[in-house]
Amino acid sequence: MDKVRLLPAPREALAQFSQIFDGHYVGPLGAAWAPGRVNLIGEHTDYNDGFVLPLAVDRVAAFAGRTRADAQVRLWSTHFNEQVQLSLEGLPGNFEEQRIKLPVWARYILGVISELVKAGIVLRGFDAVVGGDVPLGGGMSSSAALEVATVQACSLFSRGAFTIGETNATLKPLEVAALCQRAEHIASGLRSGILDQAASCLGRPENAVLLDCRSLAARYLPFNAPDLSLVVIDTSVRRELAASAYNERRQQCEDAVRLLREVIIKQEPSYEATQEIRALRDITPGQFGRYQDVLPEILRRRAGYVIAENERVLQVVELLEKGKVEEVGPILWKGHAGLRDEYEVSCLELDTLVEIARQVSGVLGARMMGGGFGGCTINLVRTDAVEALRAVVHEQYPARTGYQASIDICQAAGGPGQSIAE
Ligand code: GLA
Repeated sequence: MDKVRLLPAPREALAQFSQIFDGHYVGPLGAAWAPGRVNLIGEHTDYNDGFVLPLAVDRVAAFAGRTRADAQVRLWSTHFNEQVQLSLEGLPGNFEEQRIKLPVWARYILGVISELVKAGIVLRGFDAVVGGDVPLGGGMSSSAALEVATVQACSLFSRGAFTIGETNATLKPLEVAALCQRAEHIASGLRSGILDQAASCLGRPENAVLLDCRSLAARYLPFNAPDLSLVVIDTSVRRELAASAYNERRQQCEDAVRLLREVIIKQEPSYEATQEIRALRDITPGQFGRYQDVLPEILRRRAGYVIAENERVLQVVELLEKGKVEEVGPILWKGHAGLRDEYEVSCLELDTLVEIARQVSGVLGARMMGGGFGGCTINLVRTDAVEALRAVVHEQYPARTGYQASIDICQAAGGPGQSIAE
């Protein structure tokens, strides 16, 4: 196994293991991890078969543990100071029976383990400390990081039962992402797209990744402008209703495609012969302009946003290819306006953070990030303006919203990994 220089989160989890667990182990102490993500542009496009442009960040979910001689899995969460136990025996048949007894954080882990078992992989039991420094629920996909880290942990602790990699491995990175997406659906009830898990699996230092969410073709684009910073500002707002609003948006997109398909097939029969319309991804801005009137007002706004957002991703890609990172800024403001006014997934606190950022010269662009209704904003900021932004946020945000915001500067970082400590 490669000797890797460990990130702080796996290091801390390793240091805690022997304080929490002791037992009869059949393997050495090891760590496994996977990163959270930010999404530069391409929000709510993934489940419309569209494009996204995320980067994995230098924050990870981490496991540190050892293989057990039996089929039990004991987990200690450093975030919740809580221990749970689950069993590999009977999965996936007794999944639901085990799931309801677990706290939410452990349901993601059980979901992934159950999907691995379904895939025919024979796992071994283990004890592990589960920690990490991706802010929980803060919009950097802490749950996807946890899911992908679980696959890494199972691979490490099951001692060769399966491997993860691009070539000659049991699971390719995007197969891991799809497996984790299924686990997320089961654990959270959110019909989420593949953005978060794919971003975690595909992380590469100093690069963003353009992912075509239909073909799953991925292309890396250098993202390292030392005089620019990616600043993530957490509203501190978490809303329970977000899952149902998310699923509703997804349904609205599907309804809009159906109506647009009907009219396009009638009006442009030759187009139908060459291209099947399955998702909003397949509707060009020109076609949308011609036929949007067939849609009820609310579907018109939803579909209009998604079609424009896909175009924005491609515009940003072109700018990054030309090294014009600063010009990405205005596209982020536009993305936010669409999410606020047409897709309607923003909220007062997110809008306030974006308005505050707009007042600071040196902030090139900002928008809400992720599913919406809380979570965080992403800001593209001249590095020498980061302190000014921090100061205004601290001065104005609590007064305007009643919440405290936390501010993080993120670097594009590598993907998941594992390492033996001894
Ligand atoms: C959440 C989902 C993703 C994606 C974003 C919105 O993060 O998990 O699949 O749909 O919202 O872009």
